[in-house]
Amino acid sequence: VGSGHSAMEQWPEPLAARGVRHVGFTHFAPSHTDADLEMAFAHMMRQCRSLSTTLQLARQRMEITPLGGDETQPAVTKTDTRTAYADLFEFFHRLAHYNDINSVLESILSKARALTGADAGTVYLVEDGKLDFAYAENDTLFPGSEAKRCLYLKASLPLNATSIAGFVACTGRSLNIADVRRLKGETLYSFNDSFDAASGYKTVSVLSVPFVDATDRTLGVLQLINSMQDGVIQPSTDEMVDIIEHVTTIAVSALERGRMADRLILRMLRTSSLHDPHETAHHIWRTGAMAAELYRRWAEKKGLSYENIRQMQGKIRLAVMTHDVGKVGIPDAILKKPGPLTPEERAVMQKHTSLGATLFSDPSQGIDRLARTIALNHHQRWDGTGYTGSPDAPILSGEDIPLEARITAIVDVYDALVSRRSYKEAWDEKRAFDQIRDYAGSYFDPALVDIFVELHDVIRAIYRKYPDDDETPSKNPTKE
Ligand code: C2E
Ligand code: SIN
Ligand code: SIN
Ligand code: FE
Ligand code: FE
Repeated sequence: VGSGHSAMEQWPEPLAARGVRHVGFTHFAPSHTDADLEMAFAHMMRQCRSLSTTLQLARQRMEITPLGGDETQPAVTKTDTRTAYADLFEFFHRLAHYNDINSVLESILSKARALTGADAGTVYLVEDGKLDFAYAENDTLFPGSEAKRCLYLKASLPLNATSIAGFVACTGRSLNIADVRRLKGETLYSFNDSFDAASGYKTVSVLSVPFVDATDRTLGVLQLINSMQDGVIQPSTDEMVDIIEHVTTIAVSALERGRMADRLILRMLRTSSLHDPHETAHHIWRTGAMAAELYRRWAEKKGLSYENIRQMQGKIRLAVMTHDVGKVGIPDAILKKPGPLTPEERAVMQKHTSLGATLFSDPSQGIDRLARTIALNHHQRWDGTGYTGSPDAPILSGEDIPLEARITAIVDVYDALVSRRSYKEAWDEKRAFDQIRDYAGSYFDPALVDIFVELHDVIRAIYRKYPDDDETPSKNPTKE
């Protein structure tokens, strides 16, 4: 009475009489909460207990799967799909805070793995007509929070349809393969088992999904390997494919932003041609990457939350990449001088710190503030004997020096030591590590030096990925 539609209770009996086995109910009124609907529904359920029809309160985003042969089985309510979508919104908001490509990659892969139970995963990015291996995790091969991250692997696949990821990149379509060893002969692509053969890992299921931008260009491929449920490898379900396609769609803008940040910094540093000709883009990636790893390990030891670590780590990587931009204001005669500097020249050179700081003057930008702090303070020393290049910026010591500057000091000197400069030859790794250790407590924060030394393997990997005298990424053996 007074309303335009029938009451819930009127429906189940006539529908059951016509052989309808499953009914979903809903009702919309702006004033009704979920709890109101649930109460009304519970009331109706009590009345209809004897009917053979399955009744269900329908919800936003619910999906109904048509019943198969098994008639006793109620229709599947995709409550986990719903949870997965709620999760996706949260993921989307979190991604919006990342500017750093590595944080974005890590966040995408860990989310995708959590949603599918994948034991391992890889992100490939299209770069110079190849599919570069950008990031991987593998719980079986590299268990543990630190080691499973594999950011610094130098490998690529040709951008053609002969590999699984290549096929996905070329066609822009997902592939969901239950068992890569049972691929039928008619597919263009085949499974490349060189990685399994080399590592002893056994790939079974593969879900490979492209990152496609708004203009239908493929930016890369997300590959999830061996989805597990209760310890057993399961083929990915259609729902999983759907959800992972949403993940890649959501992630595209963050990926683009992350790559843009790197490119902008690189272009800025390149066009200013401020570097010693022996210094390459790789020098910039290396110092950024080492600083990010040093910060991460430090923060993990402090017990900071994973989310905080990831955000800060990305900002530090970007900010450290610009630590020497102030060199743009130093005359080439000094900057590129082949021999040692005179005391006067050295005094001019030392102004690169404060000059750099003046370039980052927008204090409302978090990254600017960080870049400014690092530019200004990266030649401070733990014992108070460093410089800031400006009479207005005090010489600090110990923990008064901002953490990010203490971190930069170590990775900057390490990289200067193992690299060739116009004024010095490259040192070997051992000699450089010994020198860094020697400076613990005088130039450098000793606690950070300890962590730096622990990171030895990661630092090696970073130098393999970004070697000196090699600006072009390798055409190395392909790996999948
Ligand atoms: P850079 O080449 O990037 O070096 C960064 C820092 O690494 C240096 O800061 C110094 O702390 C350390 N470092 C570099 N080479 C050596 C080395 O052979 N032995 C030791 N023990 N430490 C080393 P620093 O000294 O404040 O220099 C800042 C920048 O000034 C350097 O950046 C470089 O661009 C320039 N520079 C420093 N010394 C010379 C020089 O003798 N000749 C020329 N042409 N430039 C120099
Ligand atoms: C949500 O369901 O999480 C709100 C956003 C939307 O409905 O698209
Ligand atoms: C949704 O499907 O409602 C969320 C994911 C998206 O925005 O693509
Ligand atoms: Fe109504
Ligand atoms: Fe410097």
